[in-house]
Amino acid sequence: MFPGRLSPLKPTTDNLKLPASAGPATVLAPMQDVTGLGFMTTIGECGAPTWFVTEFFRVHETSRPEPHILESIVKNTTGRPVWAQLIGEDIPHMRRTVAELLKHREVAGIDLNMGCPAPKVYRKNVGGGLLRDLPHVDALLGALREACPPGRFTVKMRIGFEDTRDFPAFLALMDKHGVDLLTVHGRTVKGLYRSAVDYDAITLAAASVKCPVIANGDVTSATKAAWVLEHTGAAGVMIGRHAIRNPWIFRQIDERFSGRPVFVPTLGDVRGYIDRLRDRVFDKDMTPFRRAARLKKFLNFVGTAVDAEGLFLKEMRLAPDMEALLAVCDRHLVEGGNAAKPFADEPFAGVVARPNCETEQTCEL
Ligand SMILES: Cc1cc2nc3c(=O)[nH]c(=O)nc-3n(C[C@H](O)[C@H](O)[C@H](O)COP(=O)(O)O)c2cc1C
Repeated sequence: MFPGRLSPLKPTTDNLKLPASAGPATVLAPMQDVTGLGFMTTIGECGAPTWFVTEFFRVHETSRPEPHILESIVKNTTGRPVWAQLIGEDIPHMRRTVAELLKHREVAGIDLNMGCPAPKVYRKNVGGGLLRDLPHVDALLGALREACPPGRFTVKMRIGFEDTRDFPAFLALMDKHGVDLLTVHGRTVKGLYRSAVDYDAITLAAASVKCPVIANGDVTSATKAAWVLEHTGAAGVMIGRHAIRNPWIFRQIDERFSGRPVFVPTLGDVRGYIDRLRDRVFDKDMTPFRRAARLKKFLNFVGTAVDAEGLFLKEMRLAPDMEALLAVCDRHLVEGGNAAKPFADEPFAGVVARPNCETEQTCEL
């Protein structure tokens, strides 16, 4: 069923190529301060998506591509394409940045951010703010299309700013400018990260634009991915927070669609994943305290599927340093025979990642 649906995805370069299994495309969502080189490498080891997208490069008058984001592309060893995401609205500087990035042969292509919901971002008319200015998006898409070779320009958008009334007009612009692929996060900018995902809006996008559409928003498991693909007719799924929680999710989707047994990670596997994060997701100049705080950012999502009462989350948040933090991990994930227990496939109802990771403050410009 899915290969037929995927047939519109005819990439002109290798960068949008589907996996050999011809299952749906899977994409790791761009996440600021999360999807750096260390996290992409870890995800690659657990089962890489079809492609990656970086967190956004900021574009303005004095900007230069941030070295740490560029590193996540040029030093990437996962063997999968990595797209560079840009946030900005100034046409000359967006064109300049595209040219600078495309000098690096490792850059698969350029993705435009039309969704970041942080007020300090959208007030500058970038990210989700672009969804209030159709004429400017028309001009911006035209300029970026000209600046990017065929097959190397994608857009990630939400379904509107406050409501969806302009969504069809924005979709028409994707066709007008020959965007190569469109990712739709099925929430408005005002819907932030918790409002119900409007999968019908993604269905509308998949049915109306010429390019392939990737569905994004609350794809929590391989089972949910299958439902979302069936419901929306999208060519693939993009996954963010639930890939932090479950780094095997792309592998599981691949296995499900190719009819192979689906990997069931244990709590012991989760403990091993945490060690990889501990060794990779920090900057060299971070103090031990900051390193522990950074690891907690990831554990905040992992913890939503460790126990139904949320005890792991509660205890890990209180851990004063890295040693105490890892002891909490051992207690919940390894000791007392826990290592062999299966890791829940979906987050437990009512156990939520700490709001400050997902509120309006998520993006920093
Ligand atoms: C911590 C965090 C940082 C994010 N940073 C970005 C970003 O840099 N660019 C972007 O387009 N979206 C960003 N997003 C939004 C995600 O890419 C994605 O659209 C959203 O989380 C919904 O998908 P999910 O339900 O699979 O997490 C971020 C989300 C989170 C939670």
